[in-house]
Amino acid sequence: MSFLALIKNQLPIIQAPMAGGITPPMLVAAVSNAGAVGSFGFAYSKAEKIDADLSEVRLFTKRPINANFFIFSKPRLPTAQDWQIATEALVSLPFSRGTLYQAGSQPFYPDLDKQLEPIWAHKPEILTFHFGVPPKNVLEKAKSLGIYVGVTATCAEEAESIQSSGADFIVAQGIEAGGHRGTFSEEGVGDQKHPTFDLLQMLRERCTLPIISAGGIMNGADIVKHTNQGATGVQMGTSFVCCDESGADPVHKKYVLEERERHTVYTKAFSGRWAQSIQTEFTSLMKDKFVLPFPLQNTLTGSLRSYAAIKKNGEYQSLWAGKGFRKARALPAAKLISEFVLEMKAALSKFD
Ligand SMILES: Cc1cc2nc3c(=O)[nH]c(=O)nc-3n(C[C@H](O)[C@H](O)[C@H](O)COP(=O)(O)O)c2cc1C
Repeated sequence: MSFLALIKNQLPIIQAPMAGGITPPMLVAAVSNAGAVGSFGFAYSKAEKIDADLSEVRLFTKRPINANFFIFSKPRLPTAQDWQIATEALVSLPFSRGTLYQAGSQPFYPDLDKQLEPIWAHKPEILTFHFGVPPKNVLEKAKSLGIYVGVTATCAEEAESIQSSGADFIVAQGIEAGGHRGTFSEEGVGDQKHPTFDLLQMLRERCTLPIISAGGIMNGADIVKHTNQGATGVQMGTSFVCCDESGADPVHKKYVLEERERHTVYTKAFSGRWAQSIQTEFTSLMKDKFVLPFPLQNTLTGSLRSYAAIKKNGEYQSLWAGKGFRKARALPAAKLISEFVLEMKAALSKFD
């Protein structure tokens, strides 16, 4: 079977992987049982947790699931002065008083080979990567086990390198997308900031691999707009943040549902890489401040984010959300997906 054949047996919807506890087994199982593809965001998870989550999800679904990882690159090591300036920027925040900032230690990010050990044992149907193409041995191992591999692209050049790597499909991430921008360049150098629909059309001309559109897709009409233009499916993150089964912090859900006067902003201040979040006091006060490289800044801001979560203060939490967040709905995942299906049918009937 090919990736295309697998998706043809499903709804053309992948619930986006969302690292940081947002995608517990109950969400992934609910989405997959509803006929879409549920995804785990395992980027920061240890092998034991990955193993436990994959064991648990199989108690509830035998349908296709996806496991997602980041391709971390060795960060440029900051000087003592860099650490000091980055820490001082956080210490100067009004909410920051009393927070102890920790620098983290080498190698600063998880070992991908260790993270993938439970993947090879449990064999989820799909494996996806963000921030770059995985090493050749990973692609070969996945192929030998019949696991389909997808990689995020934000431009034609990245898509072409995904295609030549031997991966099975491309996740075309547009500028509307919530969460981390999947550029291969850590600094986001030369980011072309394509809207999702433009990117889909560009990649359709340049690539033969199946394309999954991601970014700003919030309802059935949006899904049909992309599949009618040749997308094999769509990947939706922000839409699933407020699902009953989502593990997103209640304050994160509340902001997505209630703070609809706000805008979203791209910020590097949480993690060191560009990511789209709801605008907050933190994103405004940290604008133009010096930050450490990814993921060192993520470790540095960890205690502030945890303290904000304890205090239920959304202004200092990373509230990842895409530009379409005002259309998010608070529903059980199966109900949300059934609403998408009705909306898709209504949109398709206009083409009959
Ligand atoms: C809360 C949140 C967390 C995310 N975490 C990840 C992640 O761990 N891995 C990944 O590949 N993409 C991640 N993304 C990006 C999604 O894969 C996808 O590109 C995006 O959600 C699509 O745009 P939308 O949010 O407008 O639906 C995240 C998105 C959100 C909203």
